[in-house]
Amino acid sequence: MTQATRTRRHVLFAAGAVATALAMPFTASAQAPIVVKFSHVVAENTPKGQGALKFKELAEKKLPGKVQVQVFPSSQLFGDAKEMEALLLGDVQLIAPSLSKFDRYTKKLQVFDLPFLFDDIDAVDRFQATKTGQELLTSMKSRGLVGLAYWHNGMKQLSTNKDKLQRPDDVKGLKFRIQASDVLEAQFRALGANPQKMAFSEVYQALQTGVVDGQENTWSNIFSQKFFEVQKTIAETNHGLIEYMVVTNAKWWDGLPADIRQGLSEAMKEATAYANKLALDLNEADKKKIMDAGKAKIQKLGKEDTAAWRKSMEPVWKKFEGDIGRDLIDAALKANS
Ligand code: LMR
Repeated sequence: MTQATRTRRHVLFAAGAVATALAMPFTASAQAPIVVKFSHVVAENTPKGQGALKFKELAEKKLPGKVQVQVFPSSQLFGDAKEMEALLLGDVQLIAPSLSKFDRYTKKLQVFDLPFLFDDIDAVDRFQATKTGQELLTSMKSRGLVGLAYWHNGMKQLSTNKDKLQRPDDVKGLKFRIQASDVLEAQFRALGANPQKMAFSEVYQALQTGVVDGQENTWSNIFSQKFFEVQKTIAETNHGLIEYMVVTNAKWWDGLPADIRQGLSEAMKEATAYANKLALDLNEADKKKIMDAGKAKIQKLGKEDTAAWRKSMEPVWKKFEGDIGRDLIDAALKANS
């Protein structure tokens, strides 16, 4: 090799290296995955916990190298008090609060909190699939929030630290932890009890130390949070429900590249089907585990007991009919048949 050839090769190599180096930052940033933080307040072994993990798996499979989903369960990143604000600030991209926690953003979702409105989760599912149900997903867009899906948990049961829990009279004067919902507040007031709004992460300790006497929740939450260890009786009231809306920041969502939004939408659809299918079985299995643990008594209710609870909670409907809208209540009721 002559000196000239060697020099030319060297120059070519150097030029190539410069070109590569110049291209690198561009390539690297083009390939840096979009990080999607998904924060929620429940344990991983719950319908929502499993749904979030399934969404991560599917999203990363559909958008390899383009998206990285980080799931933060159990209020690790943000709890009830902060998660909506964090979403609006862009500190997190997905959250899935229960429908009871949207009071500040819309009054419409309060329909889901009306006691004894839905016969079961199948009825809830039917209502959510209607045009009216789907429209509620975008009802908070002007406030910067957009719903991507509804996720089921299950029917709520009532628990206390007392031996007797069969009729409404048994909860008179007791203190109950509630989610941040005015409807739920009215529900416990109608029973002559004292409701106290409290973040989910604080409930176990509040029950354990007697700050509150009782709470209402699904079997999966009562089991995974160990509430059954610090309560004496759980009455199978099925008086309401815990349902979620997976919400994102509308501006962030609209600003995503179209292929990413499409991939995430598909992953959400499949994760939703997965989580919703799981919800019923998981709640049934957790109810059994609570029974087997033998720590809290599970109180079955007869038809007349249930009728008494229903009657005591009835005034709540009238109180919120104006805010929610009679049309919406009727549309929800229709899903029972
Ligand atoms: C609660 O606060 O009791 C529930 O909303 C928690 C949850 O997300 O299931």
